[in-house]
Parts: sequence; structure tokens; C-alpha cells
Amino acid sequence: MKKALFIAALICSQSVLADLTIYTDRVTANLQPIANEFTARTGEKVTIVELAYPALKARIEAEKENSPADLIFVKDLIYLNEMTDLGWFKAFTSPVVASAVPEQMRHSQNLWTAISFRVRSLVYNSTIVNPSDIQSYTDLASDAWAGRVCVRSGSHAYNHALVSGFVHNLGAAKTTEFLTALLGNLAVDPMANDRAVIDAIASGVCDVGIVNHYYLAPYVAANPAFVVKMTFLNQGTTGAHTNGTGMGIYNASKNQASAEKFMELMLEDQTQLQWSAAHYDYPAKANLIPSTLIKDWGLFKAEQASWETLGKSTPAALKIISEVQYK
Ligand SMILES: [Fe+2]
Repeated sequence: MKKALFIAALICSQSVLADLTIYTDRVTANLQPIANEFTARTGEKVTIVELAYPALKARIEAEKENSPADLIFVKDLIYLNEMTDLGWFKAFTSPVVASAVPEQMRHSQNLWTAISFRVRSLVYNSTIVNPSDIQSYTDLASDAWAGRVCVRSGSHAYNHALVSGFVHNLGAAKTTEFLTALLGNLAVDPMANDRAVIDAIASGVCDVGIVNHYYLAPYVAANPAFVVKMTFLNQGTTGAHTNGTGMGIYNASKNQASAEKFMELMLEDQTQLQWSAAHYDYPAKANLIPSTLIKDWGLFKAEQASWETLGKSTPAALKIISEVQYK
């Protein structure tokens, strides 16, 4: 009798351990269908805890090794690198997860992998601007664009990552020079978000700007003749700046096997297309063509430096952003 009770308790505790908890700053509604598929396949319940990154970070700092988190899934390479530096990830061992996406978009020690990605691109008023006049981000510093540029605030992670790329590719001195000239070319003060940049170009406040590609997609979906269009920069050199969502296993997870299975599911072709389409993102898995209208924007050369490498330039980037008063 005692033995039967012991076995029952063991089965019970194993099934508790087998449930999977994901901490994410991504939208639960987009992730839930994938969680449901995981439950249908494995019988394991998935709990999604959606928190903006600062709250997610604070939660883990408070819970430490008692956290129920098994997987962490966030939207930005700045966050992935920060949590890596904090020691919050442990390496996955699945060969599928370790090889699905191009090496630029995964950690060299298998601490995280991209799930989807975006491109920080040039947007322009197509009735005024010939996009072939701008080949690189640094072209926006030329006098030709004085009073014609709109950008998002320098306080946002998207621009911290972008400037990390400039520091990596150009060096600190040239980045300082470029950003100073860029800020001198602004039509208006840095804006609250990428949508405001697109709206400002559409309404004639400025002629060119830099945004994440997926912000433009809904405008084009609503109106294929929308006046603002997009083009990829640095195609002849270092590649267009990419950033994106990434997932890793929380260091204190007691359910690594299920966490790895969930990551494998996230990297299956169908899941990749479904997840990325919900946000007009590009699937991170190599050689997958997106299913949304962004496929019409064509193939492009992505940033050659890895997201992990760009992270090494982030402290210098933040210092320069502060020095040039890019607010
Ligand atoms: Fe965004």
C-alpha cells in the first residue's frame, strides 16, 4: 500500500514538473495556438506569462531559482544579450534547435536562438525620393537630407541595437560623427515610435526615415499604393541591420527536456510561418520564405555580424547615444 502511494506521488510530482512555463514579452494570443499544439502532442500543460521586458526582468530577479519559468522568449537582441550576461540561460542540447537558424541569429554556446526577425530599414516618400540615392545608413548624414529625416527616440532598444551595429561596423569615432550629422538633418525631434515616423513621411513632415519593416506592412496591406515605401540598406557592404525575437531555457528550469521540445516545435516550418506571419516578421529558420506580403519586398543581405557580437558594442553605443544627446 505504501509502495503504491509512493508511486502515485512520484507520477504526480513528475506530471507537475512536466508542465512548461514560458515568460515572454510577446503577445499571448499569437503564442497560445502553438502552446495548444504542444499540449496536444505531449499532454503537457503550457503556462504563458506575458510581461513587458522590464517587468519580466524584475520578476526573475525576485524569483531567482524558485521561478517557475522554463523558457524565456523576448523581442530584442539587446534583451537576449543582457539576460545572457546575467547568467539566466542554460545551453540547449537539441541538434535541431542548434542548427535551425543562421549562425548570426543564435548564441555561439547555444544559450538562445532567434525565432523570427525584422530588418531596420529605410522608409521614404516614393513620390519625392529615389531610393537609389541612399545605399547605406550613413548616406542619411549627407547635406542632401538636411531637414528631411525622421527617426525614433534614441532611448529605445531598437535603436540601441542599431547603433551597436554602427559601432561594430564603423568604429566609435565614425559612429559619433555619423549620429551627430544625422541628428543635424532631422526635420523634427526624435519621435515616440516607428509608426509616427511612417505617418510623418506620409504627411510630408519628412521625406525619409528608419523603421522596423513590419511597421510598414499593415499600411501596405490596407493600401498597396501607399506613398511610403521601404528599401534595404548596406546591401553592398555589411548587410541590413536585423534584430528579432529569441528564446532560451531559463537557468533554473527543472524541465529542460520539454523546454527543448517546445523550441523544436517553434522551429518547425509550419510554426515558423504561422508565428512570423502574425507580426509580419521574417521566419528565422534558414531558407523559409515568409507567407505575408513582405515576401514581395524580395531577398536581401542581412547584417553579417551576429546578434551576440553586436551586443559587445552595446555599452559603447549607449555612451555615444548619450554623448550626442540622441534622446
Ligand atoms: Fe515593435
